[in-house]
Amino acid sequence: MKHQPIEWKHDYELGIEDVDFQHHCFLNLINRLFYELEKTKDANYRNALINELSAYAKFHFISEENMMYRAGYPGLEEHQRIHCELIEKISNKESYFWVEQSLHNTRVLMNFLLNWFFHHTLNEDRLFANYLNSNEKPD
Ligand SMILES: [Fe+2]
Ligand SMILES: [Fe+2]
Repeated sequence: MKHQPIEWKHDYELGIEDVDFQHHCFLNLINRLFYELEKTKDANYRNALINELSAYAKFHFISEENMMYRAGYPGLEEHQRIHCELIEKISNKESYFWVEQSLHNTRVLMNFLLNWFFHHTLNEDRLFANYLNSNEKPD
């Protein structure tokens, strides 16, 4: 079965412009990763694709954490811990067998990434958006 790209929807937006933009790019990157991993057997390129995802995830997480810091978000530490866990999983090539050239492994990886992305974005990141919104309301 061919992978269908997961399209960005208005519903995924949290109302924080920079965060929404970065999430949209993140989802595009996951889609492209799946598309490319399904068709290439070049181990160097496969590694480079994983590095691209991991570098973008790190950038996005730091950017989000800095926003949380500036806003005095009380959930920052816990949120940082969750970000850190994903980076460790992505970096742990042995447990995720990134370079194994198997379609099954690619699909396991992509399911994991998509589940993680949607769960985190729509729940944990949304808590921060709610915090920002509630702080902007007049008392
Ligand atoms: Fe995020
Ligand atoms: Fe986050």
